[in-house]
Amino acid sequence: MSRKFFVGGNWKCNGTIEEVKKIVTTLNEAEVPSEDDVEVVVSPPFVFLPVVKTILRSDFSVAAQNCWARKGGAFTGEVSADMLINLGIPWVILGHSERRLLLNESNEFVGDKVSYALAQGLKVIACVGETLEQRESGSTMAVVAAQTKAIAERVSNWSNIVLAYEPVWAIGTGKVATPSQAQEVHFNLRKWLQDNAGAEVALSTRIIYGGSVNGANCRELAAQPDVDGFLVGGASLKPEFIDIIKSAT
Ligand code: G3P
Repeated sequence: MSRKFFVGGNWKCNGTIEEVKKIVTTLNEAEVPSEDDVEVVVSPPFVFLPVVKTILRSDFSVAAQNCWARKGGAFTGEVSADMLINLGIPWVILGHSERRLLLNESNEFVGDKVSYALAQGLKVIACVGETLEQRESGSTMAVVAAQTKAIAERVSNWSNIVLAYEPVWAIGTGKVATPSQAQEVHFNLRKWLQDNAGAEVALSTRIIYGGSVNGANCRELAAQPDVDGFLVGGASLKPEFIDIIKSAT
């Protein structure tokens, strides 16, 4: 079973309309592998989603960086999955560690968000990952398994989920996981899927790595058998994002 390589660019809370248009121009002018071989999804802040969707090359797609856990209504400041669908935004990132830690998003709340987003027709990049303290205490797999379980308990169809393993200690730190560290967790996450969601789900679900990926370290990571792509933060705002897309080949 071959899994199409997936490269996500999480722009986080960055950019002005001028900077965003410049990034998109760089992406639009880049020579990259065919969309048959690599799936590229960029995720600007909410306020730039419509313009990025309009001007971005047609072989790339866009994602929101979050959405609310149920239908819209009296939830000031939130953006619902239904609104994203209405805007023609196909993807959403959910469960990013910055939201889990800064906004106390629980495993269950993330699971509810994933379930509702899928039910509305969105495709989901679902993030899991441990803190340095959890890794150093040997509980990495227990943590990411619990995060994944909270999703698995609420979804039955994994065909529109990409699972992103993002060790918190590697995010924004320049301390990228070694290829063997990434492969070990990806392998164990795929085994967890096999044991709890079935062989087909385990074989077909893309498990991507995020945390200080850049143009220099991407190829060694991409060469790992259970690394199916990346979720890139800082480097996705720079021309080197193109090198990371090319690491699929
Ligand atoms: O969602 C991707 C992000 O958390 C990784 O950030 O800057 O370490 O690539 P960065």
